[in-house]
Amino acid sequence: MDFLGGRRLRRSRRTAWSRAMVRESLLTPSDLIWPLFVIDGHNEKTQIRTMPGVERLSVDLCVEAAKAARDAGIPALALFPNTPDHLRSTNGAEAYNPDNLMCRALSAIKSAVPGIGLIADVALDEYSSDGQDGLVRNGEILNDETVAVMIRSALVQSKAGADIIAPSDMMDGRVAAIRDALDGEGFEQTQIMAYAAKYASFYYGPFREAVGTGSRLVGDKRTYQMDYANSDEAMREIEQDIAEGADSVMVKPGLPYLDIVRRAKDSFNIPIYAYQVSGEYAMIEMAAAAGAIDRYGAILESLWAFKRAGASGVLTYYALEVARKLGA
Ligand code: PBG
Repeated sequence: MDFLGGRRLRRSRRTAWSRAMVRESLLTPSDLIWPLFVIDGHNEKTQIRTMPGVERLSVDLCVEAAKAARDAGIPALALFPNTPDHLRSTNGAEAYNPDNLMCRALSAIKSAVPGIGLIADVALDEYSSDGQDGLVRNGEILNDETVAVMIRSALVQSKAGADIIAPSDMMDGRVAAIRDALDGEGFEQTQIMAYAAKYASFYYGPFREAVGTGSRLVGDKRTYQMDYANSDEAMREIEQDIAEGADSVMVKPGLPYLDIVRRAKDSFNIPIYAYQVSGEYAMIEMAAAAGAIDRYGAILESLWAFKRAGASGVLTYYALEVARKLGA
């Protein structure tokens, strides 16, 4: 049998020790960033129909979740508020109310669990009555006017304790504008994680239920979020955000866009994060519930794929579960 010429790639796969020795990428708790949905109230948790297993939490329960995350070795949380309906408006003014739900959650967690990083999402959809990430006039999403509101939002979040500002809106020029405003107010050490390559995706559905924007959204987000047919354009978005002062960049959604993660990793010397979004979570959960896949096996495989593709970390609703199991 010399047709192989001695070349047997299976040799290194034969035993567990050998597979461990040649393994090219690692997944550890410090790779996992945990998104939390915040609601008003005390000792309150509510279910999200399309995200079985994920709950919205009141601020006091977010503090408990933060402690659990810290104990499991998770480096940072990403917070998303479900703003009470009566506080949503066309101008999204609640976004820069220093006492809004997001700010209250940031400061409560920061004082109780100072060792965990806090990532604050900046976009107007969580505060506006339109469900769009920007201000709307005659059906147009306004760019520069939206950026002006985002600056104010980023400042109140930083004052409340945000360590990383994460603009998820895809307006042009917002990274430079936020960087400038932060520096001007003494927040030179506050990082910016730019949702640089964020696609207009059908995988955000469950998230929109979680933050209460799905039912109000009219139309779609294609005039600012990216066309899923494009990859060169994602490189241009990332290049732009780096030039404007981003400390790290994000690709979103995750698994359907691994080619973008890898290409970004090969093209830029900056930490790249991937967001395993709500629809990806729902697909795994629902396929597992139907008996189609092994749940935890599929979870680990999906997270490992991000590391293999070159991501520095992953925003994932599985963060706590996986961090605990990896650390066990
Ligand atoms: C909006 C925002 C979205 C997500 C994070 N920030 C939804 C959207 O753009 O409509 C999606 C995250 C997920 O689906 O898990 N600012």
